[in-house]
Amino acid sequence: MQISFVAPSNVAAGAWVVGATEGTALLPAAVRADKASGGALTRALKISRFTGKSGQMLEVLAPAGIAASRLLLVGIGKPESVDEKGLETLGAQIVGRLYAGGETSASLEIEVPKGAKVKKAEAAAHLAFGAKLKSYAFDKYRTRNLEDFEKKLASVRIITPDSAAAKKAHAGLAAVAEGIFFARDLVNEPPNVLYPAEFARRAKQALTKLGVKVEILGEAEMKKQGFGALLGVGQGSDRESQLVVMQWNGGKKSEKPVALVGKGVCFDSGGLSIKVGAGMQGMKGDMAGAACVTGTLMALATRKAKVNVVGVIGLVENMPDGSSFRPDDVLTSLSGQTIEVLNTDAEGRLVLADALTYTQRRFTPKFVLDLATLTGAIVQTLGYEHAGVFSNNDQLVQRIQAAGRYTGERVWQLPLDPFYDRMIKSKIADMKNIGGGNSGAITAAQFLLRFIEKGTVWAHLDIAGVAWQDGEQKPTIPSWGTGWGVRLLNRMVIEHYET
Ligand code: BES
Ligand code: MN
Ligand code: ZN
Repeated sequence: MQISFVAPSNVAAGAWVVGATEGTALLPAAVRADKASGGALTRALKISRFTGKSGQMLEVLAPAGIAASRLLLVGIGKPESVDEKGLETLGAQIVGRLYAGGETSASLEIEVPKGAKVKKAEAAAHLAFGAKLKSYAFDKYRTRNLEDFEKKLASVRIITPDSAAAKKAHAGLAAVAEGIFFARDLVNEPPNVLYPAEFARRAKQALTKLGVKVEILGEAEMKKQGFGALLGVGQGSDRESQLVVMQWNGGKKSEKPVALVGKGVCFDSGGLSIKVGAGMQGMKGDMAGAACVTGTLMALATRKAKVNVVGVIGLVENMPDGSSFRPDDVLTSLSGQTIEVLNTDAEGRLVLADALTYTQRRFTPKFVLDLATLTGAIVQTLGYEHAGVFSNNDQLVQRIQAAGRYTGERVWQLPLDPFYDRMIKSKIADMKNIGGGNSGAITAAQFLLRFIEKGTVWAHLDIAGVAWQDGEQKPTIPSWGTGWGVRLLNRMVIEHYET
């Protein structure tokens, strides 16, 4: 989808999208459109239920007297409730409506009402961002009835008084959209196509050309260094495990990096503790944490963010086989701590354990944030609306939550406590990999905490409930891979870590 910003001018073709606030107060462009069409909007309003509430729409096809193919009047709600996030939703809703109508081009002329919480240029930029997010599709494997899936809307013009300022405000968001789309593609890609080496290859190819330094460690190198936990998980797979280290140095040389660590289980069958059929479906998405980290690096590098960030992702496939790791095995992690494996389906924490140790020892980062589709328990606890956050630092939690409130990716804090830590005591090793009782999301986080070294500020996001969704429940988020977290991390960098 082509997006452009233009100064007020006549709409010569395509849809003319105009706005009204709650109480059906037409904004200036809507008044002009109504007049030019000989009162088409006011006539239609009389026979509709439109009141200007946010997201409401009223469409007039082939209006007489004007060149536009249709008029679309859009409700933006109460002026004081108009903000960035709401405009993104609106942009997405408009595009969704025009897709359904088969429209090929559109001009959005929605003025920012007095009292709104957002400036004109930002409003235009976020409207465009929402439109762009809605344009995402993953259709590469469809070969029949393509017209059913075709999205005809090829160009969207945002009409705004200072188009240059809007374009500038949009540049950063366009970079974020790139990162989100990349993350969504990685999550949506089937596991026979996207196995660890292929994920690593795509990350390297996409990021290197943006100026990110990308290193890939294979099994031989990891074995030499002692990644016993991560390698244990990948042992039963025909696909080689990989660790990918991505460095974006856009900040000052002296600044310690922010570290992002991602769980990248390209397929989680459960291993020998095999999942039942229904529970295994969708486990191609068990690399969503790694996809988010990779997409975030893409976003930051694309917009040349003034920050130092390192992304470390552990890529494995968890499969049952004669050479698989077993329940009862004891693995020696990179940290030196030993782990009694009692369930091979609790594999994500094993991958993260070594990735966390590696990251801390090599980079001594400002803080480490890991993202992982770690437990079914977090889905039972928080459902699909919040990710869970666990941390040893309250300030970091607050920063994550604030960024998430802004982007709409909400995060809820859950506790860490020595009581839960006792649940992972092992009879023969330093710890076991399952808690064995309830509170599974917490015991998983307690497990990770065992690999956090003295002085490291750390947070863990369990994104199992938010990384993918069935159906389109939110306008800006498509069915399946959501790209959850890219916006949040980008926002957090803007708010606190960019110099
Ligand atoms: N990848 C799963 C967690 C998951 C479940 C993600 C559902 C998304 C949706 C993880 O590796 C897993 O299997 N966890 C087990 C842990 C248990 C064996 C202690 C779980 O949550 O059941
Ligand atoms: Mn598992
Ligand atoms: Zn898993």
